[in-house]
Amino acid sequence: MHIRLGPLALALAITIPAATGAADRARADNEPANLAACFNSFINLPLIADKRTERFQGKVDEAHARCRGGEAAVRQMGTPWVDWSNYWATGGAGSRAKLLGVGPLPINRNKRGINGALIDLEFQRMELIKFNLFDNKTYKTYVTGDGNGGDGATVKVWNEMRLPPDHPSFRDLQVDADGGQRCIGALTRFRTVTGVCNDERNPAMGASGQLFGRNVEFESTFPDLEQNQYARNRHGGRISLLQPDPQVISRKLFTRDQSATPDCNHGHGTPTGTGDCAYKTAPFFNVLAAFWIQFMTHDWFSHLEEARNDRSRVMTDLGCHSELVDGVARPVTPERAAQLGCRPADKMDAALIADASAPPTFDYRGVTRLERAYKTTRNTVTAWWDASQLYGYDDRSRRRVRRDPADSAKLMMVPARGAADRLGYLPEFAPACAADNPATPCDPIQPEWVGQEATAFPDNWSIGMSFFHNLFVREHNLIVDAFRERVLTQPDADSGLRDPARPGQTIPYRALSNDELFEIARLIVAAEIAKIHTIEWTTQLLYDEPLYVAMNSNWSGLFRNKNPDSEAFQLATKITRDIVAVLSRSPRAREANQIFAAFAAGPGIIGSGSSNHFGSPFNFPEEFVSVYRLHPLVPDLIEFRDIGDPNVIRRRIPVIDTFRAKATGAMHAGGLASWALSMGRQRLGRLTLQNHPQFLQNLDLRPRLDTTIDVAALDIIRDRERGIPRFNEFRRQIGLRQLTSFDDFIDRRLPEGRELASQRKLIATLREVYGQHRCDKTKVITTAQHDANGKPIDDCLGHDDGSLVDNIEDVDIVVGYLAEMARPHGFAISETQFHIFILNASRRLFSDRFFTSDFRPEFYTQLGIDWVMNNGPSVQWEDGEPNGHRQEVLPLKRILLRTMPELEPELRRVINAFDPWARDRGDYYSLDWRARADATTDPAFK
Ligand code: HEM
Repeated sequence: MHIRLGPLALALAITIPAATGAADRARADNEPANLAACFNSFINLPLIADKRTERFQGKVDEAHARCRGGEAAVRQMGTPWVDWSNYWATGGAGSRAKLLGVGPLPINRNKRGINGALIDLEFQRMELIKFNLFDNKTYKTYVTGDGNGGDGATVKVWNEMRLPPDHPSFRDLQVDADGGQRCIGALTRFRTVTGVCNDERNPAMGASGQLFGRNVEFESTFPDLEQNQYARNRHGGRISLLQPDPQVISRKLFTRDQSATPDCNHGHGTPTGTGDCAYKTAPFFNVLAAFWIQFMTHDWFSHLEEARNDRSRVMTDLGCHSELVDGVARPVTPERAAQLGCRPADKMDAALIADASAPPTFDYRGVTRLERAYKTTRNTVTAWWDASQLYGYDDRSRRRVRRDPADSAKLMMVPARGAADRLGYLPEFAPACAADNPATPCDPIQPEWVGQEATAFPDNWSIGMSFFHNLFVREHNLIVDAFRERVLTQPDADSGLRDPARPGQTIPYRALSNDELFEIARLIVAAEIAKIHTIEWTTQLLYDEPLYVAMNSNWSGLFRNKNPDSEAFQLATKITRDIVAVLSRSPRAREANQIFAAFAAGPGIIGSGSSNHFGSPFNFPEEFVSVYRLHPLVPDLIEFRDIGDPNVIRRRIPVIDTFRAKATGAMHAGGLASWALSMGRQRLGRLTLQNHPQFLQNLDLRPRLDTTIDVAALDIIRDRERGIPRFNEFRRQIGLRQLTSFDDFIDRRLPEGRELASQRKLIATLREVYGQHRCDKTKVITTAQHDANGKPIDDCLGHDDGSLVDNIEDVDIVVGYLAEMARPHGFAISETQFHIFILNASRRLFSDRFFTSDFRPEFYTQLGIDWVMNNGPSVQWEDGEPNGHRQEVLPLKRILLRTMPELEPELRRVINAFDPWARDRGDYYSLDWRARADATTDPAFK
């Protein structure tokens, strides 16, 4: 059985505001034919696939393409890339139809385009939830059912998510006669340090130390182990941990061309601060956004234990040994190594592996499957969006977090720059505790962290991490101040908080203990962070109208900011309720799951508001870590400005000069507000090939390891160690279309010119590095998809048998996603990365009870709920309608203004804190690099 999406299409059609004005697309179009296509496509809506091999792949039929984007959309259908990015109004002003671009559906072409894009995106999400959840502990149950005839996709409690008896929280659980566990009492009130008990029936879910999951079939993992015929056929013995050579890949495909800026000095600039480093920039995303995402990853996942990998296994070979020259492997001589800039003597501790034993298998409906991947690894921090990078994820990291001795509801801040910076700065770590002779006072830290600001997750510290940790500790303390104020003004008012030990008893504001206040402030900070990420960071990362609507729906539900009395609202609500009602009665649990995916969201969503794991316990998959290897975002030098004179670049400070403890000195010297301004105004590095910061390719890791390391090469090695499928199979696995040659990476929409020429040059280098082979049609390479004729996909990928084909199957995932040059408008990331986000970004909201069922005053207090919903003490609105939307002042901008009021003149005209602050945002999702009126003298615009 299939699900038809007619009602969803209709609901979306009603809810999406019209985009108006602007120039028409320059294209010949036959509108009667387009409209006829609309009627055809409406009758013939696509279906959610029953089988993996029948997936949507983001590709529509001609009627849909024509209806939603006219001739231009039809012309691009032959590419491997998703179709929606060619629909009307999904790009900048030029993508909007002026003629027939307003009014109701189906006349309004802009609405057709945006709604069509949203439907395609929803399809992808539903299919990802259906086909791409692979938990390393419970997969067998997911496939075979709960043992009582129930569908595995609706299982909600797993024995594998119980805590072991030696876990410190075990004694506080309620344990049933059958061994089932239930979190009770204090374990349920707030976010716990180790992340246990977010799900009360599955205490271990998302907790520190749980296994990473997968978003790809287990059989497709670790292709270089060649454990099955498909992997052998796909890669023909060409790949291994060091093949193709990771350092050679790094130097040829990742190094920034800084030949035009010789005083860049390999990312180290000049001592006078006048040096410059060329890098490819993204005009619509700033350096704050780069460090924001590093700050987020430190909350979500880490493979390392206390910043160390497997200490028993140091890899002394990290490549710089061989390269392909005219298709023939040649050793890299010392002279050639010097020329390339790679280092055969680099070394690194090997990746930590949880289980490398042969995985068990099971048979189901005639198919034998693996119960888990060939090897597994652990997430050493909590997977929850719980701000654990600030507050801790185990006992040791919690001991690094300093509470304010004068007010233990607050975090400790110290004066570092005089009274004007009254909210203070994080204190520094004391010396590391020596195992044999603990100094007093001392901190549980690694030697390389001495002198850094004290916080729970201190690894890979730089000015960026210093910035966000200081910012959110200030915010934590301001939240506590707001509660203290409430105690003064309304001491006896019901705070809304409840204690499960005395559920009927109200707790007035004056009765909140310091520990309760600390935990409530943590809940609020974590929710603010999730909100910033969802509706502020992501809407700028993916800067177009469909994603603006989609991300706001993700956070707030589809009908937020609509007038509940309006006819459209009532109709849309009715349609939605009907669908949800029908599907909740559906005996087909998997389909009900998918509808939940379409309609559920964060706080405020119609329906249950309950958490949902879709039959697979929540944790991040290995593939998620991989698509966050975003090191090209970081520039080599930060253009430092002073808050007193924003249009002047005072000097260029190498990021490497802010590494670890040096960040703390730089932060105190410059001050939080000037660093905010500097990183707010500067564009970050574009996520593309040949754009890695050179300082990260030459990162001195002492005293951690006595070596320099190429982080770009390490990104490749780690993915290989953890068995990420190579790029093309990765795409097939997540329901995207495969590439058949390196040329597919080129953006076919480009006219002849410099950009196209440079893309062709890059592709030539890619071909040189990965090579080609004579293909063999008898070798089937995958089970994830079939070709256009429904036949198995073979080694020739549609080319003639025996012909010379590109080794596209061997391309590493990081290389592949950076090479994607055809992207939807305003996409700082590639569509392959994006599809992993679609799935996991939804899950981390749906699975967390503090964002769903328990986002309510009983846990947050009423003040806490209001603070999250209003982005502070009360809601504020931006003037006008940026990009056609009435918009609240977004949460990060509010926090910046609260913690650094001196930024007000600068931020007054900023709509999104992740858009370069001095940029004129233009009309409708403009990507132009033009100065706003008061910043025309800023040299960044020259
Ligand atoms: C000054 C800036 C940065 C430094 C010094 C740095 C350094 C490093 C190093 C040394 C590793 C390797 C750890 C290992 O496997 O042994 C790493 C991993 C990683 N980095 Fe960065 N990085 C920086 C910025 C960023 C940014 C902006 C992002 C963006 C999201 C990022 C994302 C990651 C991810 C996802 C990993 C893999 C983590 C894991 O395996 O669990 N890094 N980084």
